Amino acid sequence: EKAGYKHFMLKEINEQPRAVRDTTLGRVSLDSGQVFLPDLKLSQQDFQNATSMTIAACGTSWHAGLAGKFMIERLARLPVDVDYASEYRYRDPIPGSLGLLITQSGETADTIAAQAEMISKGTPTLAICNVVGSAITRKAQGVITTNAGPEIGVASTKAFTAQLTALFTLALYMGQQRGHVSSEQSKHYVDELAKIPLKLEDVLRSVDDQCANLAKTFSTANDFLFLGRGIHYPIALEGALKLKEISYIHAEGYPAGEMKHGPNALIDETLPVVCIATKDPADPTSVLKYEKTLSNIQEVTARSGRVIAIATEGDEEIGNLVEAVIHIPAAPELLLPILEVVPLQLLAYHIAVRRGCDVDQPRNLAKSVTVE
Ligand code: F6R
Repeated sequence: EKAGYKHFMLKEINEQPRAVRDTTLGRVSLDSGQVFLPDLKLSQQDFQNATSMTIAACGTSWHAGLAGKFMIERLARLPVDVDYASEYRYRDPIPGSLGLLITQSGETADTIAAQAEMISKGTPTLAICNVVGSAITRKAQGVITTNAGPEIGVASTKAFTAQLTALFTLALYMGQQRGHVSSEQSKHYVDELAKIPLKLEDVLRSVDDQCANLAKTFSTANDFLFLGRGIHYPIALEGALKLKEISYIHAEGYPAGEMKHGPNALIDETLPVVCIATKDPADPTSVLKYEKTLSNIQEVTARSGRVIAIATEGDEEIGNLVEAVIHIPAAPELLLPILEVVPLQLLAYHIAVRRGCDVDQPRNLAKSVTVE
């Protein structure tokens, strides 16, 4: 049932090209650039009248929500708040015009409670969910199914990249409904989305050995830092969470620009720092962010921190600044997260295996958290 893989987690990491393809299939037209999400059951008027959106989720799904905020704000020009579901209902929240729950299982108690809170306040809820017929999909007005297939490993991998894919299609759909993306832009985005599965296959082929080698060097570290800016910051959080939950190494994700406001004090020659330093050369804001990230990297190396950079193919100069570079294929800024999380998953996996941890069943964790 593990199809020749040593662990479910590794099998599921390798299933990501298929998971992303199946989450896109039938929902986009390569000819027109149009997105089709008939199960949302909201009218164009509903999307046009919306003034804000509230996302609630837990753990890895919350990280997807943080990345989704960048996609929806950029493509649909709608302000988005992202909440931990476990915090949401305990402060008499003010929901946005639309609610969105993101959940692999559809059975997470905190996320169910956040949805109930939204519904009780008259807010229509949408769900991005991997399990058809689960509790959250039954209560939602509209659903986007992530067709990742059953996820057995406790650490979420393919469900996460499928969530990012679903969020991208939702953002593009909302952008179209609200009149903020032209048909030319839509075609470009749909075209780029359709290329992601092959690029994922590329990443899986090219980075696995490198991650296994880095694991040899870094598996005895006591702490890890993961840095990113903009949409790459949620991916830094996800990289840190993967490492924590399966290898039991303390890890933190941080916005790269915040380091100088305190955490730089942690850096010494024993600290591995994984920096997401990818860029989309066609996107000026992405390039600007990249340049700022490079100066953050220099701040880390000046304090003897050991930097592992995740960079875009063709960026060779960054190799002069850091100890190791993992290259991923180029893509538009909003799609890069789907590619850049893969080396972080593999790094966590190989480190955990080296440390003799039970990768598929980490201590103290359950696949689905059905108590609050
Ligand atoms: C981490 C992980 C958890 C879940 C969280 C939410 O790898 O799997 O953080 O993401 O418990 O679960 P769902 O998405 O089922 O609501």
